[in-house]
Amino acid sequence: MFHTSLNKLLGIRYPIIQGALGGSTRPVSDATLVSCVSNAGGLGILAIWNQSNSRILKEIDRVRVLTDKPFGVNVAAIHSSYDFSKKVKVLAEAGIRIVTTGRGDPNIPAISILKDHGIKVLPVVATARQAMSVEKKGADAVVASGCEAGGHVGMITTLTLVPQVVDAVEIPVVAAGGIGDARGFVAALALGACGIQMGTRFVATRESILPLPLKEKILRASADDTVVTTMRTGWPTRALKSRFTEEWDKLNKRGASPRELRDFRRMVLKKVREDIEEDTIGAGQVCGMLNDLKSAKDIICEIIESACTIISGLEKTKSNNEL
Ligand SMILES: Cc1cc2nc3c(=O)[nH]c(=O)nc-3n(C[C@H](O)[C@H](O)[C@H](O)COP(=O)(O)O)c2cc1C
Repeated sequence: MFHTSLNKLLGIRYPIIQGALGGSTRPVSDATLVSCVSNAGGLGILAIWNQSNSRILKEIDRVRVLTDKPFGVNVAAIHSSYDFSKKVKVLAEAGIRIVTTGRGDPNIPAISILKDHGIKVLPVVATARQAMSVEKKGADAVVASGCEAGGHVGMITTLTLVPQVVDAVEIPVVAAGGIGDARGFVAALALGACGIQMGTRFVATRESILPLPLKEKILRASADDTVVTTMRTGWPTRALKSRFTEEWDKLNKRGASPRELRDFRRMVLKKVREDIEEDTIGAGQVCGMLNDLKSAKDIICEIIESACTIISGLEKTKSNNEL
């Protein structure tokens, strides 16, 4: 059921990807969450931003103990082509065959480096132009991510971005941003996507390593409790509003110097290291429709089951109109 070009490309049962989930002090999508998603028939993606090679290799080994299903890793080409090649070699030697790429330096030939190691590459893009560019460079599929998403964001909504990307490229398109249940899944397929990537929904799961009070914050939040801030990484990122994002806003409005901003960011990181519950957690606008803490498996099963019900309902509506 729901066999698309994505199932075939990635060797997965359902066309559902758990987007990479980095964290301020440690990745949220670690081996536990990734293996649960992959065991449930989706594709789990390990976040490895800022992790040492030995830590990454340990986490990959841990995934392999927990699942024999396909999984992927997320990378960002941020330092230099040389460093990026070294990192990719480590991943390739560890047997990684699927990589999604997040925001990085466009001057680093990330896709060709990954492809040279026989890795399937799915870059995350925020515009149709970026999608065309990564297709030309050899990407196997693209993840079109709208501005309602959690984490790094562009300016275009998922509803308008996905069909534009679908029209612009030949490779499979995965929809991301604002999807949290079967309604979003069916809508994404209707827009021409061959599958979905979800982030925020998987942050608030039983298996995610985030402390319960932070998961509860996401479940209690409304869509307008999120904000796009440069505080976390220097690039626009959607996260839950916090006293720190408000302070950051004020600093920027009064034209604080780069040094003041850097010191503020350091202070925030220190506070978060002392007490993880102070973290400004990345979350998308979809948080407004998430109410319960579920297991990754239940989320995937419910999407597939309810998508069938939605589609039969739509078929009925169509035949009613034909009467
Ligand atoms: C807490 C959090 C951390 C994220 N970290 C990363 C990351 O390290 N790399 C990446 O490419 N995307 C990252 N993302 C984006 C997700 O992989 C995914 O594309 C996005 O969350 C989809 O939108 P949604 O949150 O509306 O489901 C992150 C998202 C969240 C919520």
